[in-house]
Amino acid sequence: MNLASIPRQELPELLCRMPKAELHIHIEGSLEPELIFSLAERNRVQLPYPTIEALRAAYAFTDLQSFLDIYYAGASVLQTEEDFFEMAWAYLLRAKADNVVHSEIFFDPQTHTARGVPFATVINGLDRAIQQAGKELGLSASLILCFLRHLTEDDAFTVLEEALPFRDKFIGVGLDSGEKGNPPEKFSRVFARCRELGLRLVAHAGEEGTADYIWHALDLLQAERIDHGVHCLDDPQLVTRLVQQQIPLTVCPLSNVKLCVFPTLASHNIARLLACGIRATINSDDPAYFGGYLNQNYLATFAALPELGAAEAYQLARNSFEASFVDAETKAGWISLLDAFFQQQCA
Ligand code: HPA
Ligand code: ZN
Repeated sequence: MNLASIPRQELPELLCRMPKAELHIHIEGSLEPELIFSLAERNRVQLPYPTIEALRAAYAFTDLQSFLDIYYAGASVLQTEEDFFEMAWAYLLRAKADNVVHSEIFFDPQTHTARGVPFATVINGLDRAIQQAGKELGLSASLILCFLRHLTEDDAFTVLEEALPFRDKFIGVGLDSGEKGNPPEKFSRVFARCRELGLRLVAHAGEEGTADYIWHALDLLQAERIDHGVHCLDDPQLVTRLVQQQIPLTVCPLSNVKLCVFPTLASHNIARLLACGIRATINSDDPAYFGGYLNQNYLATFAALPELGAAEAYQLARNSFEASFVDAETKAGWISLLDAFFQQQCA
């Protein structure tokens, strides 16, 4: 395959049309302001913003915490199973439009159970949308339960207990929310328990936190993938390990700029991560808040970084499949689909 033969002006269409997986999307972060307002009205929830425009205008973040405050406020409109279904279905339609063939979706049950919404309401609504996407859109998706790291490990054990009757509806656990001051080791026992239960393990690390958080997520939590992880380049020994073990990073470029992890997309390190041989992927994180869904992340990143061309597009899509938690046969099927797509582009 001669990827160099693909002209640069064909990149945008290629990025949009290529089959891909999304591995880092918080479903509550796909809640668009319009849906927040319609659910608030339906559920009689009072919002601290008078209009959709006023809410959108508040999406000017200075760091992770300034975003999380608004993100948790937005999620407070979700109350019924139908609400969770509608939110997930809207995301899955957008993923389908972006030629996503598989998505591994985070959800934050503690945000909802703390408001008195039963765990069953949350997961049954999300699961129904996923089942429907499989049947009607030919899109496969699975759920990853995230523990909120600003809460305690006991709180994490509590939600894990609530989740276990629904063990067949989620494939793994993750760790999200405010990173600084909430290191991975705070959750080492609950992750060990999840591992015994056969759950897949991921963790946000090295978004705002240092490279040490990535080491600890790997060594103390046994995380199989690192969410964000962009601070790994501060530590050459860590880079060596990530490359040797092919530990995937689920990078979210638009998120990183919105939360001031990088000042601009042009200064983002995704091209360097790939050049080092790290299994990096591109993802949308919280697309309703950060300016775009998956294809928008690809388009804006490639437009800002001239080092990224067709070879990197192929590598990123391939990495997204390699890094997914599906069986080897399914993975191979998607990679064949990707190869066929690029072969056609080269012809
Ligand atoms: N980082 C940490 N927690 C989160 C994020 C994120 O980018 N998005 C939603 N919860
Ligand atoms: Zn995230």
